Amino acid sequence: MGDATWTEIWNIFFRWFHVVFGILWIGLLYFFNFVNAIFAKTLDAESKKKVVPELMPRALFFFRWGAMLTFLFGLALLYVNYLMPGHQADFNSARGHWIMLGAGFGFIMWFNVWFVIWPGQRKIINGIKTGNPAPAEIVSRAANASKLNVYLSVPMVFGMLAAGSHFIHDEWYWFVGVIVIGAFAASGAYKRAAKVSTEV
Ligand code: HEM
Repeated sequence: MGDATWTEIWNIFFRWFHVVFGILWIGLLYFFNFVNAIFAKTLDAESKKKVVPELMPRALFFFRWGAMLTFLFGLALLYVNYLMPGHQADFNSARGHWIMLGAGFGFIMWFNVWFVIWPGQRKIINGIKTGNPAPAEIVSRAANASKLNVYLSVPMVFGMLAAGSHFIHDEWYWFVGVIVIGAFAASGAYKRAAKVSTEV
């Protein structure tokens, strides 16, 4: 292993799996919002009953465990880079400020997955299976939490990258700019998604 230290090895290992599980999670988040939500609207009750109970539990399995493992590897990275004795990056630095934005938004997103979206989806899927649809407020709560996660995801990734690559600029307008550009990107993707042609 040459002159690699154990801290360096753990750090790159945690980063590797943190990003792999992050791709799994956020990729499925975008699939739900930009593909599946529009596709589901085209299904009649009969097709929904066939498609949803087969598709959604499988997709939601990787979605929620992707979120959990991203979060756990994220906590491991927080420990190795910011908290471990002798290896602390300062929370009161540009790197520290960006990771507070990234990890803060990431935490809200993880919470939404496990405590709003997943419990809501279980009720929605069981409702479709049994022909007893879940109450409208459960459906809209889950959809809103998912939409909020899409809007948080774009600045969240900036925060991760800025901290990871030690971007040293942290004036307030960077934070506002990143959140505003992220909101335009997310809303543009929703608009485009609604217009994607099914002609091939
Ligand atoms: C769920 C809560 C999350 C927490 C607590 C968290 C925490 C962290 C921490 C502590 C770092 C290291 C930053 C540094 O070196 O200063 C990091 C890096 C990173 N995270 Fe997260 N993260 C979370 C979610 C995500 C998600 C959902 C993604 C999506 C892909 C992601 C992508 C990244 C990337 C790309 C890096 C930079 C890796 C590098 O440059 O080496 N993170 N994260």
